Amino acid sequence: MVQNWQPDSWRSKPVIQAPTYPDAERLQDVEARLRRFPPLVFAGEARQLKTALAAAVNGEAFLLQGGDCAESFAEFHPDNIRDTFRVMLQMAVVLTFGAACPVVKVGRMAGQFAKPRSADDEVREGITLPSYRGDMVNDMAFTSAARIPDPERMIQAYNQAAATQNLLRAFAQGGYADLHKVHQWTLDFVGDSPQGDRYKDLACRLNESLDFMAACGLTAQTTPQIRETEFFTSHEALLLPYEQAMTRIDSTTGQWYDTSAHMLWIGDRTRQLDGAHVEFLRGVGNPLGVKAGPTTSPDDLLRLIDALNPKNEAGRLTVIVRLGADHVENLLPPLLRAVKREGRRVVWSCDPMHANTITSDSGYKTRPVQAILREVKGFFIAHQAEGTHAGGVHFEMTGQNVTECVGGAHPVTDANLSARYHTHCDPRLNAEQALELAFLIAEVLKEQRLERQKQEAAAAAAST
Ligand code: PEP
Ligand code: CO
Repeated sequence: MVQNWQPDSWRSKPVIQAPTYPDAERLQDVEARLRRFPPLVFAGEARQLKTALAAAVNGEAFLLQGGDCAESFAEFHPDNIRDTFRVMLQMAVVLTFGAACPVVKVGRMAGQFAKPRSADDEVREGITLPSYRGDMVNDMAFTSAARIPDPERMIQAYNQAAATQNLLRAFAQGGYADLHKVHQWTLDFVGDSPQGDRYKDLACRLNESLDFMAACGLTAQTTPQIRETEFFTSHEALLLPYEQAMTRIDSTTGQWYDTSAHMLWIGDRTRQLDGAHVEFLRGVGNPLGVKAGPTTSPDDLLRLIDALNPKNEAGRLTVIVRLGADHVENLLPPLLRAVKREGRRVVWSCDPMHANTITSDSGYKTRPVQAILREVKGFFIAHQAEGTHAGGVHFEMTGQNVTECVGGAHPVTDANLSARYHTHCDPRLNAEQALELAFLIAEVLKEQRLERQKQEAAAAAAST
């Protein structure tokens, strides 16, 4: 058990980014109801994810984490869940097959409803209203009624997360993710594109391998790994009354787990060492993430690692770095060196989205695909130079054919951002842009694997 910790011990610490609920009694009533609801995930599943992530610490697996910046009540539709799941599967196949590396799939799904904001208020044409904080807090519409935080929204978020989780489980285990369906996962609009062609080519080669394996007696019937996949859920643990209400004792281990998702992370704005978010998450057994931004010093990071992973367990903590394409080269190596020097075991993951957001000439918040690619490349280069492992990536993306990030092989331009700009928060990669990134990462991972094999062969030859 974690020392001096209770599910509510965060309440005695400074809480930032928290909504002000006008009616404390209604909030307490919602919390009491949530405490009686069934868990959305099981502690044993969270432990499985932790084990899978432990392999990514040593470069023996790769974390693929992605999904919406913010899920919304309005866009809740089975097709949206299916399409995002599908892109994740496609990316995972590209990485697994292209790089011969197991991929740990974690969706920003089934609970990603609360958003940190840079200001408490939003001003439009002289009118000041509370900021929109995600659908589980208030409504995006710019009216005073819509912006009042409503605790009842936590119940709706729970219900939507439960239905989403249920569908994801069915997709992962009910036959949809069978590797024989790899061709069918292609989304229509990706079909006729360079990435679509590359994907089809890879799918053909994968099918040949499956035929070969079947001839050897390994089929979907004999080998569950061909028929089904593991898919985990995650979100930013921002709205602590919700997270606390979902936190339960696991009967197997007697330990506390936050059963709202398999993995929870702390955002760049709420990672204060003596703050409520670090206090809450240090006490739950789930695998955790912590964002590291341009203002995170090596010492800050080491202190956070010690607070969140005091036993230095591999798989417990993923450091999600989001430094920006122009800064990764300078800012990442000192972080890598400090963590390596102190022998701390973490998964290093790259979020190339959050420090590459710009406002386009036409006034849209966007991210250039070129900058995203550059940050990912810089991330890999830094790891190679320091002798550490690039363990994963963290993307905001959707299976929908949106026009939110500029660039890509079928380029989205500033002029057509408005065509299908649907996000409730940050701009997301569309399926084609996400696949392009997956191919790039697969190539780098493959090069690294071949290089490792060459070095191992040379070392073996030298020792004989
Ligand atoms: C996010 O992941 O949506 C987010 C707000 O990120 P960050 O905390 O890194 O700014
Ligand atoms: Co975001």
